[in-house]
Amino acid sequence: MLGSVFTTLVLSTLATAHVILTYPGWRGNNLIENDTYPFGMQWMYPCGGMGTSRNRTFWPTLGGAIAFQPGWFQGHDKATIYINLGFGTDGPDNGPKNMSFTMVPPFGLLGPSKGPYPGTVCLPQVPLPPNTVMNPGDNATIQVVELAQHGAALYSCVDITFAAPGDPRIGHVNETNCFNSTDLGFADIYTITTKEVGAIVNASTTSAAASVLGSIHSAGAWAGYVPLGLGALWLLL
Ligand SMILES: *[C@@H]1O[C@H](CO)[C@@H](O)[C@H](O)[C@H]1NC(C)=O
Ligand SMILES: *[C@@H]1O[C@H](CO)[C@@H](O)[C@H](O)[C@H]1NC(C)=O
Ligand SMILES: *[C@@H]1O[C@H](CO)[C@@H](O)[C@H](O)[C@H]1NC(C)=O
Ligand SMILES: *[C@@H]1O[C@H](CO)[C@@H](O)[C@H](O)[C@H]1NC(C)=O
Ligand SMILES: *[C@@H]1O[C@H](CO)[C@@H](O)[C@H](O)[C@H]1NC(C)=O
Ligand SMILES: *[C@@H]1O[C@H](CO)[C@@H](O)[C@H](O)[C@H]1NC(C)=O
Ligand SMILES: *[C@@H]1O[C@H](CO)[C@@H](O)[C@H](O)[C@H]1NC(C)=O
Repeated sequence: MLGSVFTTLVLSTLATAHVILTYPGWRGNNLIENDTYPFGMQWMYPCGGMGTSRNRTFWPTLGGAIAFQPGWFQGHDKATIYINLGFGTDGPDNGPKNMSFTMVPPFGLLGPSKGPYPGTVCLPQVPLPPNTVMNPGDNATIQVVELAQHGAALYSCVDITFAAPGDPRIGHVNETNCFNSTDLGFADIYTITTKEVGAIVNASTTSAAASVLGSIHSAGAWAGYVPLGLGALWLLL
């Protein structure tokens, strides 16, 4: 009873979706909100407040499946998803030094509504980051980031040990644990440079950029997430 009152409060104040990793595994349930994490654990970089697992999951040395449910809790119906890898156990808490190696280009996710939705996303063959070779027994951590449309990010991780493809310790991937729900959509992300680094700004160039910004705002797209400091414009189409 108390639990359901608390949950309602959380939904109305926090108001954003959370991620559950369904394949190949999860560090553990970090959908927690308490006095230590008044905004919720999942906002904590790099792995949503969860320490490195002792129970690692096996994952293929040539890359493999990753599946997750992005729509826990009420909130936004659009997000940008990043999937990164961190190598080894030389970093804090016997985890990776950093989570800086991108596995797939970031992509837009379109949910059915602002309400909680149970849909699942499955990427059946996520490759290793470019120019990396992993051997059976190597340890790494996969990080899934859900960037909400207001700019804050939710983190979830799974700690893996690489195994040769076909190793029976790798969890079987099938249509039960790895599928795309029909109520979820995807969007590509494009970058349009509006001012090159070092370019001399000219009044006519400025107004052209301003008119692009104006059209984005009038289209109401993505709450105007425009990192002008980077000289780039993110568009979700
Ligand atoms: C590891 O153990 C924790 C705690 O029992 C559990 O929540 C988590 O799902 C486990 N992870 C894997 C990959 O089995
Ligand atoms: C909040 O939850 C985390 C994770 O379970 C736990 O480590 C922490 O002690 C909790 N804080 C409080 C004040 O209960
Ligand atoms: C990988 O992690 C496992 C389980 O935590 C550990 O037993 C093993 O020593 C680690 N391997 C390396 C190379 O660090
Ligand atoms: C990030 O991690 C990689 C692999 O562990 C390491 O080679 C690199 O130096 C790290 N980068 C920074 C900035 O610490
Ligand atoms: C899919 O794999 C899981 C885990 O091995 C298993 O529990 C489930 O029964 C499988 N489903 C089908 C349809 O084969
Ligand atoms: C799910 O959709 C993504 C994005 O279109 C696609 O890359 C992936 O292959 C799909 N997964 C399955 C199991 O079809
Ligand atoms: C500024 O724009 C005008 C009109 O397009 C152009 O003639 C001029 O060369 C530009 N100046 C610079 C510094 O780019």
